[in-house]
Amino acid sequence: MKIGRNDPCPCGSGLKYKKCCMQAQQQSQENLKELYYKRYKIQLKEEEDIQGIRRAGDLVVQTLDMVQEVIRPGVSTEYINGLVHDFTVQNGAVPAPLGYNGFPKSVCISVNEVICHGIPGEYELREGDIVNVDVTSRLQGYYADASRTFKVGEIGEDASRIVDVAYHSLMQGLDQVRPGNTVGDIGWAIQRFAEKEGCSVVREMVGHGVGFEFHEPPQVPHFGKKGNGIILVPGMVFTVEPMINLGGRELRVLEDNWTAVTRDGSLSAQFEKTVAVRTNGCEVLTPW
Ligand code: MF3
Ligand code: CO
Ligand code: CO
Repeated sequence: MKIGRNDPCPCGSGLKYKKCCMQAQQQSQENLKELYYKRYKIQLKEEEDIQGIRRAGDLVVQTLDMVQEVIRPGVSTEYINGLVHDFTVQNGAVPAPLGYNGFPKSVCISVNEVICHGIPGEYELREGDIVNVDVTSRLQGYYADASRTFKVGEIGEDASRIVDVAYHSLMQGLDQVRPGNTVGDIGWAIQRFAEKEGCSVVREMVGHGVGFEFHEPPQVPHFGKKGNGIILVPGMVFTVEPMINLGGRELRVLEDNWTAVTRDGSLSAQFEKTVAVRTNGCEVLTPW
């Protein structure tokens, strides 16, 4: 039930709601905003900001859906880059990766043992590959970031397993997103699940605040201890994006200074969503 501004305040003061606890609630959200910025440089989002990020998120999801339709053996990663670029621009948005810290393309495409930040190019997808496509769009000033790992045709047992474990790792992390839990709870849940499955969690790349910028505070590690780190409060918007390896967790960056691959050559998979902490839990702003 929603309390009207002019209804009697439920605290029993006899004042109108707008003159009493409604103000207190707004005041405390204001204080929290200042506190989180001062302490952590975290910019909590207002309702209208979340709406903007949700719109950007819807576009990112549409883009990933479109990519899914064209994934098949023989398709080059450069071709997928072109599709993502054109679709983003046609929808009035900007592909955030293009030129970001010098990244040369509009989307990250990471095949098999590539953990993340793969640069689209001549490579043609082959039956049995697993391929992560990571899309970030800026729409009307708001950023949303999401990725999925797609299967190319029929894939092997190992590939199938790492894709499943990566997906469920993300879901375990998202289960922890609610006010009062901590950033550490997210990483703890992901690490516990992935390692129980005999896989490993990449440490060097983390989830991140998102919305006003591509990457904002806080960092959201995909490993850690329960109860550690910043307390989640309504208005926080960030990504969770665990990179899970079938072998060891160590990585190596190729000569291009972007492509991160598993050191042992084992398969790696990743799924990413942008989420908002809400008073009642977690809202996914990139709902694929
Ligand atoms: N989309 C990646 C992430 O999830 C970041 C890519 S940075 C880029 O945070 F420059 F490679 F695009
Ligand atoms: Co991200
Ligand atoms: Co991303």
